Amino acid sequence: MSPFLLTRTLPEDATEAALRADVLRGLTRTPKTLPPKWFYDAHGSDLFEQITELPEYYPTRAEREILIARSGEVAAATGARTLVELGSGSSDKTRHLIEALTDLRTYVPVDVSDSALTQAGQALIAERPALEVHALIADFTARMTLPDTPGPRLVAFLGGTIGNLLPVERAAFLASVRALLSPGDALLLGTDLVKDEKVLVRAYDDAAGVTAAFNKNVLTVVNRELGADFDPGAFDHVALWDAENEWIEMRLRSRTEQSVKIPSLDLAVDFAAGEELRTEVSAKFRREGVRAELSSAGLDLTHWWTDGEGRFALSLSVAR
Ligand SMILES: C[S@@+](CC[C@H](N)C(=O)[O-])C[C@H]1O[C@@H](n2cnc3c(N)ncnc32)[C@H](O)[C@@H]1O
Repeated sequence: MSPFLLTRTLPEDATEAALRADVLRGLTRTPKTLPPKWFYDAHGSDLFEQITELPEYYPTRAEREILIARSGEVAAATGARTLVELGSGSSDKTRHLIEALTDLRTYVPVDVSDSALTQAGQALIAERPALEVHALIADFTARMTLPDTPGPRLVAFLGGTIGNLLPVERAAFLASVRALLSPGDALLLGTDLVKDEKVLVRAYDDAAGVTAAFNKNVLTVVNRELGADFDPGAFDHVALWDAENEWIEMRLRSRTEQSVKIPSLDLAVDFAAGEELRTEVSAKFRREGVRAELSSAGLDLTHWWTDGEGRFALSLSVAR
């Protein structure tokens, strides 16, 4: 059986230093914000997996439908021997792709969640012993150093996670992805599409309250890691559609006027009653916009596939 390698590309304390910097910056500005990567401790990763199975959360099912139908075409177009997946999470849908990529030698899942990487990696090597799995705990918005593995290389970024980056961050991110590729290598990108507002809002505000728990989990992470005294029950989960920017925003709305202490930053953060903290943006896309953003980064769109209901798109683009 091939070994399962789990590599941390950052020093052990970098995660805490990055959290401290993000919390300090995000909670001392107006409006207050926190970046979505801090949802994903082991509990947050578990909650995300539960979200993917909710009746309201269509993106996972829609993307899986496309992967089942199109992975053979991805394999034929790329002949990939290395698959790098950014924000891989459980790697569950990726199995369809891995199965179709008959020349695949190495799979490199990259995620901030070591619990998700370990579970997914171990399950995969049990299923496909000849596949080398080289998991990386890394932040895909920072500079990434990938293991030296055989090309052609295919980078996959699924789940619509690219929508969590703001437009200016997306441009920097796509340029950094392009830098991981040689000419002829490819990017497989999952993007959720603009659609009816009610369908979108429901996907981020489910009846069972799982997304609300996921949203509030970021407060629990800050409490545990930085000794803060957030009371998650003192905040309401909010999901709303921003029609101008064409993105969903998740926010936490303070129920009362309150002051939260964060001892490890020597900081007290005041919230007015009704004040909102933005925890996630999830941009929705149109084909022309995706093509243009890819092109600006040096990637030429070659394939665009949607599910039967046109809710979600998977695109393949090739590095110039
Ligand atoms: C929306 S989930 C998608 C998971 C999976 N790709 C899917 O399609 O179901 C986002 C994933 O990206 C990871 N993630 C979020 N921000 C990240 C970052 N800055 N660097 C690396 N991984 C990140 C999370 O831990 C999580 O596994």
